[in-house]
Amino acid sequence: MDTQKIKNKFKELFGSEGILYTSPGRINLIGEHTDYNGGFVLPGAIDKAMYIVIESNGTDTVKAYACDLNESSEFKINVDSDKPQEQWASYVFGVVREMQKKGKKIKGFNIVLSGEVPLGAGMSSSAALESAVGYALNDIYNLGFTRPELATIGQMTEHNYIGVKCGIMDQFASCMGKEGSLIRLDCRSLDYEYVPFNPKGYRLVLINTCVAHNLAAGGEYNKRRQSCENVVCKIAGNHPEVKLLRDANMQMLGEVKSEVSPIDYKRAKFVIGEIQRLLDACEALNKGDYETVGKKMYETHEGLSKEYEVSCPELDFLNDQAKKYGVTGSRVMGGGFGGCTINLVKDGLYDDFVKGATAAYEKEFNIKPKVYDVVIKDGARKLS
Ligand code: GLA
Repeated sequence: MDTQKIKNKFKELFGSEGILYTSPGRINLIGEHTDYNGGFVLPGAIDKAMYIVIESNGTDTVKAYACDLNESSEFKINVDSDKPQEQWASYVFGVVREMQKKGKKIKGFNIVLSGEVPLGAGMSSSAALESAVGYALNDIYNLGFTRPELATIGQMTEHNYIGVKCGIMDQFASCMGKEGSLIRLDCRSLDYEYVPFNPKGYRLVLINTCVAHNLAAGGEYNKRRQSCENVVCKIAGNHPEVKLLRDANMQMLGEVKSEVSPIDYKRAKFVIGEIQRLLDACEALNKGDYETVGKKMYETHEGLSKEYEVSCPELDFLNDQAKKYGVTGSRVMGGGFGGCTINLVKDGLYDDFVKGATAAYEKEFNIKPKVYDVVIKDGARKLS
């Protein structure tokens, strides 16, 4: 991104240089809707990021400006009820509040924001924003948070100020990303391992349906989480050690089948299966067996579509196109209800697939899809 534009805007509005920070969006190879169930995920930070220029202003007011929307917003740093109307500014407000709840002193600041993570594409533009703001405030006020703590602050911002009961994956990837590596994260303990990812002979490509059914924000997403918690509650009746679906297995789920709703049963069955699929995919990755990884990705799509029901006709269509072209693996990525499919494609197939699938999609839905080659980059950082 051309960061000069946002730097110039800061200077024009506030008369000084400010400091530039960035934090990226993410992909996730496999392990979807497992994070809030204490399972594993396999994300990586990408080369599409959120950028902010920021500086302490010596007042008790935060003055914010969103370049891409041409909107400004203000709030008082110590007034709880001063939550801004604009959603983008609520993220800034939420991060500040979450840090203050932990006893940190933050003064007023000026901030200009701009991003290149497509909105509603399942690439975590909001986590990128929370992580950029969190990382910057931690740095300029010397607050002493670790990167995983900053990820948790971003997650709590979503819970308490946006109304999405998300897991930790997106913010963790944005704060902890490492160039060339995926992160195998245990979302129960937050133990993690960097897995170098350089699939020789294959490419990873995202195709954006460019539809966002907007069911995720607070509605359907939170319902999925509720279903999982309902099932855990029943299983814990027989097995008190089960605190999250991560601790359960198919047999335990079978024991409570008649006590939970058919929908909750389907949701939990997907999650327990998905946690195992991720472990199988990691084992295959270690052996360089991308065919098995791809097979698991298709299984995940099937589960997300039929059991977890977070796909949509546009995503299913792109998944079918991938199968038709003999693509190694393909699935809906992120929360679902629109956004991207992630595709593991052999080098030799790449051009035909991308050309053919996007043309067919456009013909079917009259929407031009967007294509992004995945480049795995570093997480949150200071740029100037
Ligand atoms: C969204 C949430 C994440 C995760 C994914 C699904 O991106 O923010 O916490 O639950 O959906 O895997």
